[in-house]
Amino acid sequence: MERLVINGGNLLKGSVDINGAKNAAVAILPAAILASNGKCTIDNIPDIEDVHCLERILRSLGCNIVKIDNNTLEIDSTDVNNFEACTDDARRMRGSYYFIGALLARFKKAKVLLPGGCSIGVRPIDQHIKGFEALGAEVVIEHGAAIVKADKLKGANIFFDVVSVGATINVMIAATLAEGVTVLENVAKEPHVVDVANFLNSMGADIKGAGTDIIRIKGVESMKGCSYSVIPDQIEAGTFMIAAVATGGDVYIKNVIPKHLESITAKLTEMGAVIEEGDDSLRVTVKGPLKGVNIKTTPYPGFPTDIQQPMSTLLSTVPGRSLITESIWENRHKHIDELKKMGANIKVEGRVAIIDGSQKLTGAVVKATDLRAGAAMVIAGLVAEGTTEITNIEHIDRGYPHIDNKFRALGADIRRIEVEE
Ligand code: EPU
Repeated sequence: MERLVINGGNLLKGSVDINGAKNAAVAILPAAILASNGKCTIDNIPDIEDVHCLERILRSLGCNIVKIDNNTLEIDSTDVNNFEACTDDARRMRGSYYFIGALLARFKKAKVLLPGGCSIGVRPIDQHIKGFEALGAEVVIEHGAAIVKADKLKGANIFFDVVSVGATINVMIAATLAEGVTVLENVAKEPHVVDVANFLNSMGADIKGAGTDIIRIKGVESMKGCSYSVIPDQIEAGTFMIAAVATGGDVYIKNVIPKHLESITAKLTEMGAVIEEGDDSLRVTVKGPLKGVNIKTTPYPGFPTDIQQPMSTLLSTVPGRSLITESIWENRHKHIDELKKMGANIKVEGRVAIIDGSQKLTGAVVKATDLRAGAAMVIAGLVAEGTTEITNIEHIDRGYPHIDNKFRALGADIRRIEVEE
């Protein structure tokens, strides 16, 4: 097993290139199955474990994949001949549930193991199922798998009970080849929802309204290959912004869409950091004292849940009391116990983390309890006095491409070691 070892205290300086968005890529790759002729050439794909998992699942379904380079795949789905994604890979990650929508749309049947992913709370898929059923599919959950089938799919009006990224994208994918018009209401508006819609439209789908409260999908007869570039990862960018502020550094965050980062930029600015926006980059520096702030996570364009854990590390190092209210996931404060081992003064009451900022964290052996918790630990290690060793970093590698190399290039003392279990 691998661990990350960090000797803290170095200021981060220089520039970092942000890779493609994990949560867009994990939907775009399964959606490539919709092309019944022609290849999808997709670039700016992050080189992460979740993507490697999806590649293996796509191959097991009969897709022909050529790896052009670490960030570009050419996927030919013409000969897909297996409609079951039931390997361990499907169970291991969250995004595998997009195979349900994609296989259902093209072949009217699918069997997919219920997805895994980070343990951050109950992760139901009732809204996905509600959408598939409204389109005319029959859905059965049996032996840990979702089995879906339909004679044909027919457009429908669907009002989601909760704002869900996964359900919005999955039902949008399923509706692309349905007969007639589908209208989705109370949808998620995250940048990756828009990115998946743009990808589907490049393949010949007819989707309007992604990024607003209502998405309208006019079913088409078939879809074809295309060339597409995944949008930059808002959460990877936010993680580097927070690390830059936490170390009091001076970092250019390149290949980003500053608009997607506004809620993070606003909070860091409120804390006292200085953020200068370029067309596709940000410069993050600290010129004066920082102060605590209150944060409540909400769906886009609000403050992203996926960045609150890294923020909790930063807030535990600045003077003053800060509150983080997690409104999306009921169990996303598990990393706080790890931060406390490093000296953080944090109390969790239900969904609220009450952080009394102190100035100093100290190195310790800590665990990455999930993906973003892992990023929070890396930032803690970067600012802590002494050495921090992070275990269970497979969670980090699922979603952050080469995080150690990227931080090392910015001046951090971070390395990966292999340990016997
Ligand atoms: N929900 C339901 N029913 C459903 C679906 C969701 O009640 O059928 C609830 C969830 O329990 C949650 C809320 O709706 O309380 C939002 O869940 P959502 O469906 O939006 O989450 P998701 O699609 O499972 C994606 C990301 C998460 C990110 C959330 C919220 C992927 C693969 N995962 O999850 O990313 O936290 O959206 O933005 O896209 C991460 O990257 O670290 C991560 C966990």
